[in-house]
Amino acid sequence: MVAHPRNAEWRNRLTIVRIVRLSLAVAGQQPEIRAYQVRMEMVEKKFVVTPWEVSGIVDYERLIREFGTQPISGGLAKRLESSLGDTAYLVRRQIFFSHRDLNLVLDDYEKGKGFFLYTGRGPSGPMHIGHILQFYFTKWLQEKFRVNVYIQMTDDEKFLEEKRNLSYEDTQKWAADNILEVAAVGFDPDKTFILQDTEFVGHAYPLILKIARRVNYSTAKSVFGFTGETNIGFSFYPAIQILPSLFEKKRCLIPSAIDQDPYWRIQRDIAESLGYHKAAAVHSKFMPPLTGMQDKMSSSKPETAIYLNDDEKTVRNKIYRHAFSGGQSSIEEHRKLGGNPDVDVPFQWLYMFFEPDDQRIEEIRAEYKSGRMLTGQMKDILVEKVTGFLRGHRERREKAQAQVHLYKKDGALAREMWKHDFSKS
Ligand code: TYM
Repeated sequence: MVAHPRNAEWRNRLTIVRIVRLSLAVAGQQPEIRAYQVRMEMVEKKFVVTPWEVSGIVDYERLIREFGTQPISGGLAKRLESSLGDTAYLVRRQIFFSHRDLNLVLDDYEKGKGFFLYTGRGPSGPMHIGHILQFYFTKWLQEKFRVNVYIQMTDDEKFLEEKRNLSYEDTQKWAADNILEVAAVGFDPDKTFILQDTEFVGHAYPLILKIARRVNYSTAKSVFGFTGETNIGFSFYPAIQILPSLFEKKRCLIPSAIDQDPYWRIQRDIAESLGYHKAAAVHSKFMPPLTGMQDKMSSSKPETAIYLNDDEKTVRNKIYRHAFSGGQSSIEEHRKLGGNPDVDVPFQWLYMFFEPDDQRIEEIRAEYKSGRMLTGQMKDILVEKVTGFLRGHRERREKAQAQVHLYKKDGALAREMWKHDFSKS
């Protein structure tokens, strides 16, 4: 198997950190040594993006280089934008900024070969605004291209991720909750299959085994940073996240934030040897936490995120109290110097998702920069947009309860998947 060129470099870096850690541990962990160790790690890391951790201020151009992906720009961006029509703003504004083989997916579509979509969610708690952006974008792609969508609910992954400390029952509860949030997005019930891992993967086990046999431990270790302490369930898990990318013999396009890309790197090493296409992907940036442009929204820190189940009062409180502002410290200063939309989280949230109208978003930017618009006014706009969006989503969620069985079992695609004989895949 061909190892990713970056893997060797990652291994070296991790080894350096481990050697430093080891020698410091031996030295006895005096306070100044501990401080040195922390600094060493900061210098090493600066920012971290893995499927389980996002910290620091993410440098997206560097990620493109390090991960070996391509920017979505020029003619390719235009091709996708023209297919998406009025929902193209996420591409035009480079929120979806990077890809693998998107050009081949669009070629296949134009030649009539078609493609399919795959995305997912790890049900570890309530879903936030950043998660749901992925599902709305995937739904818009389904609407425009009329293709099948597979949505994986990785309750197994979240149970195995020990640091989350979730019981099996917790993961089942969150899976049911999150499936309803996803159903509220309004996917086509006959072209969408939601697979909850603990229910479905037994059925697909023969194909999972074929995947697992082709991924060796040193690849998984260097791509995901597994150590001797990693439980063996977690080491096997990548085979399960790769599975849906092989549900059809067509090309698979995976929308997600860029944190999930390590799985697709492994998938691309092995897919062709199993008679399938390499996965294609479109990667988004992360919606920043309310509290500032670094790190990520967290289920354990409610002030960092707006959850889909937050009521209007909570949304208001979170935004007015916690949203990091790019404004000046007094009104006089602000009028004189203007605000900085680049670090202003309310502006960034409007830009990344909540204000699709390009002319309006540029007006807001200009007003804020000039100092005519104050921080409070920017927050008012966001509160109105978020509460409006959540109201609509909540109404759709009420109705979606009756649809869940179609996505999981009884819709045309779900029935086909449950009937499929995976020993022949
Ligand atoms: P999870 O539950 O961590 O995240 C679900 C989806 O949300 C994206 N995401 C974000 N997008 C924008 N802004 C953010 N701040 C933000 N935080 C998370 C993630 O990239 C993801 O697309 N292992 C996966 C579940 C999974 C999956 C997949 C995801 C299984 N198969 C295929 C994407 C595609 C997970 O735990 O995602």
